[in-house]
Amino acid sequence: MTITSSPAAFETATPAGPVALDRYEPLSRPDLSYTPEVAEATAQTYEKVKHIIPAIEWPALAPTIHAINKLKKERNAVILAHNYMTPDIYHGVADIVGDSLQLAIEATRTDADVIVQCGVHFMAETSKILSPEKTVLIPDMKAGCSLAESITGADVRALRERNPGVPIITYVNTSADVKAECDICCTSSNALQVVESFGVNRVFLIPDKYLAANVGNKTDVEVLTWDGACEVHERFTAQELKDYRKIEPNVKIIAHPECPPEVVAEADFAGSTAHMIDWVKTRQPEKVMMITECSMADNVASETPGVDYIRPCNLCPHMKRITLSKILDSLIEMKEEVVVDPVIADKARIAVQRMIDLNR
Ligand code: 13P
Ligand code: SF4
Repeated sequence: MTITSSPAAFETATPAGPVALDRYEPLSRPDLSYTPEVAEATAQTYEKVKHIIPAIEWPALAPTIHAINKLKKERNAVILAHNYMTPDIYHGVADIVGDSLQLAIEATRTDADVIVQCGVHFMAETSKILSPEKTVLIPDMKAGCSLAESITGADVRALRERNPGVPIITYVNTSADVKAECDICCTSSNALQVVESFGVNRVFLIPDKYLAANVGNKTDVEVLTWDGACEVHERFTAQELKDYRKIEPNVKIIAHPECPPEVVAEADFAGSTAHMIDWVKTRQPEKVMMITECSMADNVASETPGVDYIRPCNLCPHMKRITLSKILDSLIEMKEEVVVDPVIADKARIAVQRMIDLNR
């Protein structure tokens, strides 16, 4: 069961802007010519993306991929990339790819000095919260998220005042400010487990009303929520899925739980981006449709050669702000640094760490 609260006015989140990084010298810009050395160094990557990147475009991308991979070593940097990154990033320069939970866990494990977060701002903030001693960079500070923008720390405080004693779980797609006010964090891969971990009959799962409803449909716990939604997943409709099934009766449809419940009800499976990838790799369906962001099918197609992907998808404009050339600029100029107020980070870390500990 799910009940929705209304969002209050938007409040500026924790300041997290670029700061001077005196300890790092800016590096000189590499030559971006498509030389035989670059062609050879990037040949294996091209094999993984050739189904989606035409050969004629490769000479324009390969030099930047090669340069990023060299600069990463100079900076002792690790690139954490979300599954929604484009294939050139996902297959070409990422050290670790994954869903929100996997990226959060990897942020605690890496011994690199610098994390370049290829994803959206809340993901970079989560890395900074978990690794405050590291320099965390995001290639575009404007890479936001409709869910993270739907709620503020002040909203959560007001919610708690109105509902004393009800645990408040925050989806990871929120600012550090919001995480600092909540009892525990969750992602789409562990939301049900987190909801049931309290052993009570009523919890808040904020701010995604659809994720909350989808979790609420799987448990006896009453799941109260907030009026937030992912602008990418809420655009899918159940009718659309029914129409696709008429055209392609053998297709398997898998959806992300940020989709409305009636869309999830039409799907054969729903799970986080990593769970969707695992499902396809394990089941190897003849035809599959991933009801989520466009890059998912592009990225996983090379790893599942026997599977035919039917590709209705919606683009996340925030994720798509991250490009190869911005990643290169990040490493050359050490920008843009993600900073979180240490007092807020200390509080937010408790919520995120509780989730990670639960998963262990
Ligand atoms: P997951 O990768 O955790 O499933 O999240 C999807 C998403 O929308 C991230 O912004
Ligand atoms: Fe936010 Fe949705 Fe984009 Fe993920 S896909 S970053 S939830 S807007």
